[in-house]
Amino acid sequence: MKKNIVLLPGDGIGPEIMESAKIVLNTIASEYNHEFTFHEHAIGGNAIDRFNNPLPEETIHACVAADAILLGAVGGKKWDNNPSHLRPEKGLLGIRKALGLFANLRPIKGFKSLLHASPLKEEKISGSDILIIRELTGGLYFGTPSERRENGDIVVDTLYYERHEMERIIEKAFQSAMQRKKLLTSVDKANVLESSRMWREIVDEKASVYPEVEVEHLLVDAAAMKLITEPNHFDVIVTENLFGDILSDEASVLTGSLGMLPSASIRTDGVGLYEPVHGSAPDIAGKGIANPLGMILSTAMMLRHSFGLEQEAAEIEKAVNETLEQGYHTADLQIKDGKLAGTKEITDAVIENLTTKSISNSICNM
Ligand code: NAD
Ligand code: IPM
Ligand code: MN
Repeated sequence: MKKNIVLLPGDGIGPEIMESAKIVLNTIASEYNHEFTFHEHAIGGNAIDRFNNPLPEETIHACVAADAILLGAVGGKKWDNNPSHLRPEKGLLGIRKALGLFANLRPIKGFKSLLHASPLKEEKISGSDILIIRELTGGLYFGTPSERRENGDIVVDTLYYERHEMERIIEKAFQSAMQRKKLLTSVDKANVLESSRMWREIVDEKASVYPEVEVEHLLVDAAAMKLITEPNHFDVIVTENLFGDILSDEASVLTGSLGMLPSASIRTDGVGLYEPVHGSAPDIAGKGIANPLGMILSTAMMLRHSFGLEQEAAEIEKAVNETLEQGYHTADLQIKDGKLAGTKEITDAVIENLTTKSISNSICNM
């Protein structure tokens, strides 16, 4: 299979973990006889430095022409005081919007060997398997106008949604629930927000189309609590943009580290952008200690969702599982024993497991 993949390494640890993704994909390409061509483009802070634009036109064109896109992370202190149109995050939001990637899938399923790496009790989190479906191109992130008024003393951010934007993400969530355990938790703030009340209406309308799916509504504050106290309760969670952003970082605690979580940002036709859930981690950038597994697992999501390469995707997930079972872990995983590894070492271990294709009896939870 021939595929044209655009790489957007971005800032901070972005380029470090993108190296790992490239090595993994090159290994898969040679093992399975695929031809993956990589084209690297600027986004975020580095694009501001080079082109005075967090999302240069040529990056958009390349992404539009690509079969799939991989993104590291954007952002950093250097650009934190820039005006809003010259912020790295503007580039990320811009590419999601430009490509119409309205559905952000964030699976949260830990690996057995990392159960003890979570600060939560093992018996509470064991067996948890959650898919957060986050609306990605609407809500507070994209409302207009965001502005300061009255000499900066009044500030306006607008939570704007159109019915069809809610309908398509909620539809996606029902479809996903049908493929899983058929429990859909819709998270909102309907006791306060009008947008949430419309959201609830739509969920209830769609529920009659999917009678097999059990539907529950949770207010976001209670959902945040239940995610930690009873993670096993959940199957698919669907929510709007900002709530989904916050809940997914919270849920990463179940897996031992934010560095473990992959994500897929997709639309209805299979085109997608794949990136780890975490950010550019400026506190550890350049030290060679970033956890590349969320990025590597994002490449597996890309192979599965955009290219239909299920076996190759599963191979990567199995190799990650084996690597963790062998005790390799980066410093973000709070583990006392085992083999403390840097980004390169743990990537090498994944590659070793990919190429030896060792048969493991252990079950990969992803
Ligand atoms: P962050 O996710 O970058 O980091 C939070 C904490 O988790 C830090 O202590 C960091 O060291 C650690 N961490 C994150 N990923 C890790 C990994 N792979 N390996 C080891 N440790 C890891 O969030 P932040 O510090 O709030 O934000 C930093 C910058 O990243 C900001 O500019 C923010 O806007 C940006 N950001 C970008 C994205 C993205 O590009 N998708 C996502 C979130 C934040
Ligand atoms: C994420 C990030 C982004 C978001 C930021 C960097 C704009 O936190 O991908 O989760 O809030 O969507
Ligand atoms: Mn986030």
